[in-house]
Parts: sequence; structure tokens; C-alpha cells
Amino acid sequence: MINIAILGFGVVGGGITEVIEQNKKALKAYVGDDIYVKKILDLREFPDSPYGDRVVHDVNEIVGDPDIALVCETMGGVNPAFDFSCAMLKAGKHMVTANKELVAKKGLELTSLAKENGVHYFFEPSVGGGIPEIRSMRTSLAGDTITAIDGILNGTTNYILTRMKREGVDFTSTLKDAQRLGYAEANPSADVDGLDAQRKIMILTAVATGYLVKEEDVYCETMTKLTPADIDAAKRWGGAVKLLGSSRIDEDEASLYVAPFFVPESSPLAFVEDVYNAIHVTSPVTGDVMYYGRGAGRMPTAGAVVEDVASILSGLAAKEKKCEWQAAPAGYVKPFSENTFAYYIRTKADSKLEALEAAALSFGGITEIPGTPENVCEYITAEIEEKTAQEIIGSGALGEVESVIRIMK
Ligand code: HSE
Repeated sequence: MINIAILGFGVVGGGITEVIEQNKKALKAYVGDDIYVKKILDLREFPDSPYGDRVVHDVNEIVGDPDIALVCETMGGVNPAFDFSCAMLKAGKHMVTANKELVAKKGLELTSLAKENGVHYFFEPSVGGGIPEIRSMRTSLAGDTITAIDGILNGTTNYILTRMKREGVDFTSTLKDAQRLGYAEANPSADVDGLDAQRKIMILTAVATGYLVKEEDVYCETMTKLTPADIDAAKRWGGAVKLLGSSRIDEDEASLYVAPFFVPESSPLAFVEDVYNAIHVTSPVTGDVMYYGRGAGRMPTAGAVVEDVASILSGLAAKEKKCEWQAAPAGYVKPFSENTFAYYIRTKADSKLEALEAAALSFGGITEIPGTPENVCEYITAEIEEKTAQEIIGSGALGEVESVIRIMK
């Protein structure tokens, strides 16, 4: 029997015990032994749970227990998860975490501490819920060079955008449903304002490059300003609005950003709906690969935790190269304002002709969107540098601007 512990018995932490119970036979066959959840750290009591008698309130009961080989951290947040994780790694325990905020903010310290202590610090469940993209990017694509990542990395916002597209509703009413379904963060601002996707694209980029960039170097734009009119325009244009977390990676620089984008139907990302996530990875040899699956929710995320647990306990991970992340050197992250995009723009317009002429003059070329409603003007600009685009938009030359959304490249 191999003993493990869980830190945090919430939605995902509780799911881990269920997955281990449900897949007992398969896990034993794979790992070669039974996996037993010996201790669970939580502030609360769980008198009605069959695991209630394993709940402890003092982290030292796990740190100091030499029989516990591996610890799953599903507490969320940086504190006290960071201190607890450091203590576990120093005590020589492997760790698996679903905590994207912790990996994004403290990944340098934690991966290096794990290496120093000869244990694994795995984080597959921290990005893409049940999708096994991290191991695949680290191992299957190890001989290639990842040059671009575009991800639908947040299940809550994708669920909201899908409902807006199907039902024409606004975003506030659908957010409540996403919370009820257990997709949203405790503070859903992390979902809708893009912070959750920001952390996830930082992690994926670190997996691809070995450089963990700082949060403040990742451009992040909220999706709360999107309206049914934007969703409708994207449909008429031939695509869908998606909140993307993206990175473009060159040899000595990278650009990372999170924002709503018009995604054309020529991209499979346009068809990723509901709570599903997808990570589209580009590399010169392999070309395009897309990972797809349930991006949030109790069982898919708990399943990803157990996959990492199984790969460590089976010995499979022993041969895997440990993460050796470094801080990105100064100047590695290209300022967002230097990127080039085409833009969807909607302005109020008494005279469409005049508005289109003004836009064409400013952007040096535009394409009108078919089926535009009365009194507004909608078009896609030619590709232009972000800095210049924002100057034009702020100059007043286009009239009253209602909406600006970038087009995915
Ligand atoms: N709130 C997150 C989401 C949970 O909606 O994607 C999974 O990381």
C-alpha cells in the first residue's frame, strides 16, 4: 500500500478520493500497489464523509509522517499553500498540484526545491482540467520547438460565451450558472477578468520554453465588456468570440497575452464550446496539435491529479526530466503594444459611408462585415501594430467607438 495525503478537501480534493475509489483496480494494475489516502488537511470537519476520520488540522501531521510518499495540493491560492508545499518538498515528498496561481507565481521556487530534494512537483491539473497536455508537451514534443500556443484556457468564460452565442443572453445571468456547476473560481473575477487564463498561459509557456515570466509581463484584458452585439457580429463574420490565452515564442523573445478574440471558423478553436478547453500548439516539425477536453469541474480535474499521482507512483515519471524553470531574462517578453493584429471595430454611425471612409483612411484598408444593423458601422481593419491601432481608436477619427476586438492570427 502507498500512502498519500490531500491538502484541501473541497471540490477537487474530494474528487480525488472518489477517482481513487472508482478506479482502484486499474490504478493497482498500473502502479503495482494500492493507493491509500491516509490523511487529509482541512480546517473543517467532515462527519458525514467516509474519509472524515482521516481529516487533520495541523499540517505537521503530514509533513512529519514518514509513511506519506506523495501529497496532492488542492487548496488554491498562494498562502498558506506555498509554505505547506515547501515543507512537503523539503520532507522529501512528491507533490501534485491543481493550484495554477501557486505554480504561476511560485513555480521557480517550487520546481527548484523539488529538484534539490530529488522529488517531483507535478501540475498537470493546473491547466486545462482533465486534458493531459502538459506531459505531452514535455515528452512527446520534446524534440520539437514550440513557437505558438493559443488556448481556450478557462471553462467558466467559455461556458458563458457559448450560452451568449446560443441564447443571445448577457454574461451576468450565465455566470451564476457557471458558479452553480462548480466551474468558477471562488472569486469569479479571476475567470472573467482573464487572470486565471493569464496564469495558465504563463505555465504553458514555461513548459514550452523553460522561462517562467512575471504576471505583469502578460497582457490581460477582461471579457466583461463583451455584449450580445459582439457575439452576433462574430457569427456574421464567420467565427466566434473566444477568450484566448496565447503566446508567440521566438528564440530570444516571447509575447504572452489574454484577451477576447474573433476566432475564424477555419480554426478548430472556434468550435470549442461549453466548459471544454483546448490548447492549440504550433511547432515547426510537428505542425499543429490541438489538445481538447473538459477544462474545469470536480471529476475531470481530480482525474488529472490522479493521473499525475499514478505516473509518479508507478515509477514512470522517474525517468522524466525534472522541470528546470528559470526567470525570463530582461527584455525577453516583448511589449504587447509591439504586436500586430487586425481588429473588429463597431462604431455608431449616422452615415455608414462616411464612417467607412474615415476608417479606411485611418487603417489603410478595411473589410465591412455583412448584415450590419442600422446606425452602426462594423468592419475588420488591415493588420496594424497595436500601439498605432490604439492611437487611432483614441483619436476620435472613427466616431463613437462601441467595440474593439482583435482577430486571432
Ligand atoms: N475556474 C477555472 C475555469 C477552473 O473555469 O477554467 C479550472 O481551472
